[in-house]
Amino acid sequence: MGTKMSDVIGVVGAGTMGNGIAQVAARAGYNVIMHDVRDEFLDRGLTAIDKSLQRDVDKERLDAESKQAIIGRIRRTTDFAAFKEATFVVEAVTEDLGVKTQVFKTLDQVTPPHAILASNTSSISITKLAAATKRPDKVIGMHFMNPVPVMKLVEVIRGMATSDETYARVRSLTEQLGKVALDCQDSPGFVANRVLMPMINEAIFALYEGVASRESIDGIMKLGMNHPMGPLTLADFIGLDVCLAIMNVLYEGLGDPKYRPCPLLKRYVDAGWLGRKSGRGFYEY
Ligand code: CAA
Repeated sequence: MGTKMSDVIGVVGAGTMGNGIAQVAARAGYNVIMHDVRDEFLDRGLTAIDKSLQRDVDKERLDAESKQAIIGRIRRTTDFAAFKEATFVVEAVTEDLGVKTQVFKTLDQVTPPHAILASNTSSISITKLAAATKRPDKVIGMHFMNPVPVMKLVEVIRGMATSDETYARVRSLTEQLGKVALDCQDSPGFVANRVLMPMINEAIFALYEGVASRESIDGIMKLGMNHPMGPLTLADFIGLDVCLAIMNVLYEGLGDPKYRPCPLLKRYVDAGWLGRKSGRGFYEY
C-alpha cells in the first residue's frame, strides 16, 4: 500500500507551489514530470528550483553534483500525454474550480487507471474535483504550504469517495517527502485557511479602518505573537488574489458574514496589486 521509489510523480503547474512540490519530490529521489501550459512558465519554475537548492549548496548542506542530479530528475513538459507514466499526480494550478475541474478530467483520461490524483487546492472541495473523474476513490487533497521546501505540513483531505488505500498511499508519500501529514475533513478552507485567512482579512480591516499602520499591524503580530511574518507581509507573500479567492470560498461555502472579504483586499486585487509577485501589495517590492 505504501509508496515505492519507482513511483513517478507528476506535478501540474510550475508556479510557486508546483515547482516547490516538484523540488521536494525530486530531492526525495523520485522521478518527476512537471507540466505547465507554456515553456516560459516551466523555465521560470526551474529557475526557482535552482535558486532554492542553491541556498543549500551555499550552506554546504547539498553538493553541486547532487543539486544537478535533483534537477535532472525533473522532466518538463507542456503535453499532458507525458503523464501516462505517472503513478501519482499533484495538481497545483490556479485556484479556480473551472480550471481545476478541467485538469482533473484530462488527468483521468491520460494517467494509468491506478494513478492517484491529488490536488494542492487550498480551499476547493475535493469531492467536487473527484466528481469530474471516473476514479473518485483515487482523488484526494494534498495541501502543501509555501515555501514548500521549508514548511513541514501537508494537510491531507479525503473527499466523500476517497478510499482507505489512496489515503494510506498519500500519507506514505508525504512521509517519504520528509513532511508531516495531518488530516482534515473536506470542508471549505479545510483547517489551515479557515484559521489563517480570517486573521489576515481582519488585519486588512484594521488597516482599512485606520486602526494602525501596516508596519504596526505586522510588528504587533510578529513581536507579540511570535509569528515569523506579520499578516500583511504574509498576505503579500501568499498573493492577494489567492487570499481573496480563499475568503470567497469561506464566505460562500460557510454562508456566514464573518468571512466577508475586506473591501480593501478586493480593491488591491482589482488594481493588480497582488503582493510580492506583482511588485506591489501592502508593501512595495
Ligand atoms: N527554498 C528553500 N529554502 C528556503 C526558502 C525557499 N524558497 N525560503 C526560505 N528558505 C530557508 C532559508 O534557506 C533558511 O534556512 P536555514 O534557516 O536552515 O538556513 C530558512 O528557510 C529561513 O529563511 P530566511 O532566513 O531567508 O528568512 P526567514 O527566517 O524570514 O524565513 C520564511 C522565511 C520561512 C518564509 C518565514 O518567514 C516563514 O515561515 N513565514 C511564514 C510562512 C507561512 O506562513 N507559510 C504558509 C503560508 S499559507 C500557505 O502556504 C497555504 C495557503 O493555502 C495559502
